[in-house]
Amino acid sequence: MQLIDRISTLYRETFGHSPMHIARAPGRVNLLGEHVDYNDGFVLPAAIDRATYVAFSPADARHSTLVAVDFHQQTSFSPETIPTRTQTDSSPLPEWGLYPAGVMWALMGEKLVVPPMNAVFASDVPRGSGLSSSASVEMAFLTAWQTLGGWSLPPMQRALLGQKAENHYVGVNCGIMDQFASSCGVENKVLLLDCRSLEWKPIPLPKDGSIVIADTTVRRKLTSGEYNKRRAACEEAVRLLKQDLPHIDSLRDVGVKEFDRLAKKLPTDMEKRARHVVEEIGRSRQAEALLEAGDVRNFGRLMNECHTSLRDLYEVSCPELDVMVNVAQSLEGCFGARLTGAGFGGCTVNLVAKGNSDGFAQALSRGYESETGLHPEIYITHASNGAQLLK
Ligand code: GLA
Repeated sequence: MQLIDRISTLYRETFGHSPMHIARAPGRVNLLGEHVDYNDGFVLPAAIDRATYVAFSPADARHSTLVAVDFHQQTSFSPETIPTRTQTDSSPLPEWGLYPAGVMWALMGEKLVVPPMNAVFASDVPRGSGLSSSASVEMAFLTAWQTLGGWSLPPMQRALLGQKAENHYVGVNCGIMDQFASSCGVENKVLLLDCRSLEWKPIPLPKDGSIVIADTTVRRKLTSGEYNKRRAACEEAVRLLKQDLPHIDSLRDVGVKEFDRLAKKLPTDMEKRARHVVEEIGRSRQAEALLEAGDVRNFGRLMNECHTSLRDLYEVSCPELDVMVNVAQSLEGCFGARLTGAGFGGCTVNLVAKGNSDGFAQALSRGYESETGLHPEIYITHASNGAQLLK
């Protein structure tokens, strides 16, 4: 494994000895249930075979020193510098450093032992692509500190601490889906999570379907505020709908018919955002039965409907994502195609008939390139296990 060799070599060069441990935490792709995790809905992600890897050992110092191969940078921080988001030399943490430092902050908040570590890390989850590179960094460092701290938390608990770090330390108001998938992933399975009760179950991937990820190579910035605005619109919609439906706590509690009756009470944009969420939760409620029956066609149809809704109602698509989806949906063997993750760029997820997946990937690449002039990255992925210590 190339990445593991690279971080191990760089670790030796930087710290003068071999790393004691290696941790791995995957990115994720979401098949259905987009922008519903922060509305108590159901999501259907799978951990993927791309991941963040950390080579690490306990440090003989008060502070932790982390080398980010992908940024050619290094940072040092300690429990004393954590509250001010600074490095040991008092300068602000680099942006990438907020993720591991945020994890340390969240663990300290639980009064867990968080020993100083020396670490070198790298990832093959493309950043800002909708595949949860941030969650994979968080869960990889959480696994590393769990190893050095000698404590052990259940995977869901670790996911919640990763989310806490991202919400309150990094400042992105994300839901639980990404950290959950990175922490709880199961080989060859998609994970059906009820984001209200946090109950979940692995479901086998349809036998005749492959998951193909297509990267538009257009990048978004999740912290840019559009994500937080969508979330705020959903919360405001709940507040307004409560006047007629006092029992509701979130958009999950609103049925499609009920929503139709009351929709006009909401301002136009807010109505569109809330409609996406209410209907997407309806779609994801059908997913379990369809997948268990191996009904890839109808499952794929829901994926296509999801994209239309993300494009027209939630307005988180972009021209390149729409081209990628349109081309995919026109190809033979494609059951469903849609943008995955927060949107505004990044990747699409495609459910494709197994025998067609290579031809599909080539035709999609050609079609996308001829319409946009951009060269996409397309790969057939397989669902992998969640965060783990490799050594
Ligand atoms: C990002 C967030 C998730 C989720 C998705 C959209 O990936 O981190 O919590 O809200 O967007 O479904």
